[in-house]
Formats: sequence, structure tokens, C-alpha cells
Amino acid sequence: MGRASRKFVFPVLGLLCLVLFYSTRATGEGSANQSRIDHGRQLVLTHGCGDCHTPWKLGANGPEPDSSRLLSGHPQELVMPPAPPAQGPWLVNASATFTAWGGPWGVSFSKNLTSDKETGLGNWTEENFIQTMRTGREMGKGRMLLPPMPWPSYQHLTDEELKSMYAYLMSIPVIKNKIPDPVAPSAPEPAKK
Ligand code: HEC
Repeated sequence: MGRASRKFVFPVLGLLCLVLFYSTRATGEGSANQSRIDHGRQLVLTHGCGDCHTPWKLGANGPEPDSSRLLSGHPQELVMPPAPPAQGPWLVNASATFTAWGGPWGVSFSKNLTSDKETGLGNWTEENFIQTMRTGREMGKGRMLLPPMPWPSYQHLTDEELKSMYAYLMSIPVIKNKIPDPVAPSAPEPAKK
């Protein structure tokens, strides 16, 4: 090899090594993120988030979660009539979608957990999500979450588990679906004389 060509070979080889190094590092990061998302998906499935946050519909074999509305909360077009009064041994009522819940706390609606910025968790940081699941407060600092959101159980998840759940929620299809505000409980009927 002549001196002149050697002058080129070494920088070119160096550049090649650099490109190889960064490309393997990038796919390494990519697959680490993918395994976090996969872990999050498994946790969301096993912790029943979809039981309440994915609306249910009637399928060929009975009720099933509507996968086209994955984790998008109470369907905005489904305007519910007032809930029956919460009294007697049957204290809690649920919509057929399992996304609207009437009880002594009034009526609550399962939230949109997709990353839509206006109607879902799109503006939430990972920390907002972790704190919500730990404290039971909206974004970790707002009002207390109403039943039946089972945060008292979920508060025991580890940081790693909550981070994985958050990563999965940020990876699923974005669905714009505005959740109604909760309804306060109606005043009890005046006692009959
Ligand atoms: C038994 C029903 C139920 C289950 C199961 C459930 N949720 Fe919820 N969740 C709700 C309801 C209802 C609300 C709304 C409560 C309110 O308005 O105060 C809610 C609220 C939330 C919020 C607050 C969102 C916001 O915009 O304020 C987050 C975050 C959340 N749920 C995440 C989860 C995750 C993650 C899981 C699974 C690990 C889960 N939920 C399982 C019913 C449920």
C-alpha cells in the first residue's frame, strides 16, 4: 500500500468503527426500551388496568374489552343517565362498559391513559404518573382519586414497575377521548315524617 492510500485507509477505518460503535449502542438502547415496554404491557395486563380503563363491548362470546379503544377510558359519546341512588345492600353500580361507576362517592369515570395531550396522559411526566399511583392524587398533587381506582394496592408497585407501566402507556396508540368530570353524590332524600 502506498503512503498516500494509507493516509486515507486509517481515517476511513476509524470512522467506520465509530459508526459501528454508535449504531450498536443505539440498538442496545432501543432494545432496552422495548423490554421495558414489554414488561409494562405484562404488568398492565396482569393488574387489570384494562378491566376499567378499556371500555367493554358485547362480542360474539359475551362482554370483552374493545381493543380499538385500548385504555382510552369512558367513551365520550356515551352520556350516562343519573346513577341509581346508592343505598341498600347493592351499593355500587357500573355501566356496561365498566367505565362509569356510581356509588356513595357520586359517579366516577375511568380516565384516558393513552398519551393524548388534551384528553389523556400526554402532558404527564413519568414522575407525575409514579406519584399518582403512590399518593392516589391526580398528578401526585391534585384532588384524591375516587373509587374504584385501586391505587391503595398499586402504591406498593416498585419504581421500576411503575416506570415500565408508564413506558407502555406512552407506547400504545393515542386516542382522543375526553372523560367527563366526576359527579358529586346527590343530597340524601329528606327523611319522611
Ligand atoms: C376497578 C377499576 C379500575 C382499575 C382496575 C384501574 N383503574 Fe385507574 N382509574 C379508575 C377510575 C374510575 C379513575 C378515575 C377516578 C377519579 O376520577 O377520581 C381512575 C383513574 C386513574 C388515573 C388518574 C388519571 C387522571 O387523569 O387523573 C390513573 C393514572 C390510572 N387510573 C391508572 C391506572 C392503572 C395504571 C391501572 C392498572 C395498574 C388502573 N388505573 C386500574 C378505575 C380503575
